[in-house]
Amino acid sequence: MYSFVKPLLFALDPESAHDLTIASMARWGALCGAGQPKPGRSVEIAGLRFENPIGLAAGLDKDAEAVSGFSKLGFGHIEVGTVTPKAQSGNVKPRVFRLTEDQGLINRFGFNNQGVDLLVSRLKDHPYQGVLGVNIGKNKETPNERAVDDYVYCLTKAAAVADYITVNVSSPNTPGLRDLADAQRILEIIDPVLIARDSVTNRKGQRLPVFVKLAPDFSDDDLQQVLNALAQTAIDAVILTNTTLTRDGLTDVNQGEAGGLSGAPLTERSFHCLTLALDALRNQIPVISVGGIMSPEECQRRLQAGAALVQIYTGLIYAGPGLISGAIDATR
Ligand SMILES: Cc1cc2nc3c(=O)[nH]c(=O)nc-3n(C[C@H](O)[C@H](O)[C@H](O)COP(=O)(O)O)c2cc1C
Repeated sequence: MYSFVKPLLFALDPESAHDLTIASMARWGALCGAGQPKPGRSVEIAGLRFENPIGLAAGLDKDAEAVSGFSKLGFGHIEVGTVTPKAQSGNVKPRVFRLTEDQGLINRFGFNNQGVDLLVSRLKDHPYQGVLGVNIGKNKETPNERAVDDYVYCLTKAAAVADYITVNVSSPNTPGLRDLADAQRILEIIDPVLIARDSVTNRKGQRLPVFVKLAPDFSDDDLQQVLNALAQTAIDAVILTNTTLTRDGLTDVNQGEAGGLSGAPLTERSFHCLTLALDALRNQIPVISVGGIMSPEECQRRLQAGAALVQIYTGLIYAGPGLISGAIDATR
């Protein structure tokens, strides 16, 4: 089926293809309701039960418009967002580019989203039975000194509609955001977020797990230090990685576009970050692996290496929904 749909989507510019996908998935969900996670190898982390280890990465359904539609692909979890306190339009278009020859994407969306209030209203009493994560960020106009207020605000608003919250300090498209993930500064965000977490519950009325999503562009030493800092806290998982600013080994004409690179060119870097994190955290904190997972075999490799869960974005665009069911079956 996807072999028929893909050429039609790829004939559109990438953002129009994305918007059409969201509209179609939203319609499908509205007509047919939410689907169940496809049974697979179940995983328990952070007090949450995942029916299978395959999740939808943040950024595809930023405003939680199509959770029911995406749930029909069988994901064990779906992460929506990144959402910010106030709606914002993001960077000027065009802001997403296919690197078809490299099986990659470059995006510089810049946290375009409709704001946390609308997201919360869409997710209220949502029937999705898989694990639902809400990924939170800061508004572009909020200075880094006050970024923590944005994270605490979004967490407090979204807690009641989420199973877990992800603190995104790794997007390359919001100026200065990655500075917040410096080993010296990350606890200035995480400690207050964890204090706020203690006064709310999640959508099941239970303790709200907090995950932290990191970039792939640290030196090994710097990543080690950030992980050491996080290991001293009560966060529940680390998600590695977001998109990369590096441009190694690309051939596609779009390689010079500014923004974060995802897909196949990220595979080995993301795997390296996973193994480094597993080593640094030594089972203290689970690691969720994302970045360049383009095949069921790559899912297996991440899980066999020790990832608790995996997430997929760009692979879905290139390989289609069969990747998700294939990966769930392969990792049984
Ligand atoms: C177009 C696009 C938009 C994204 N937006 C977000 C976002 O809003 N928040 C976030 O945490 N990650 C975002 N990501 C990063 C993905 O969640 C993922 O970490 C990254 O793309 C690597 O995985 P992949 O190679 O499977 O795409 C985005 C990725 C893409 C391609």
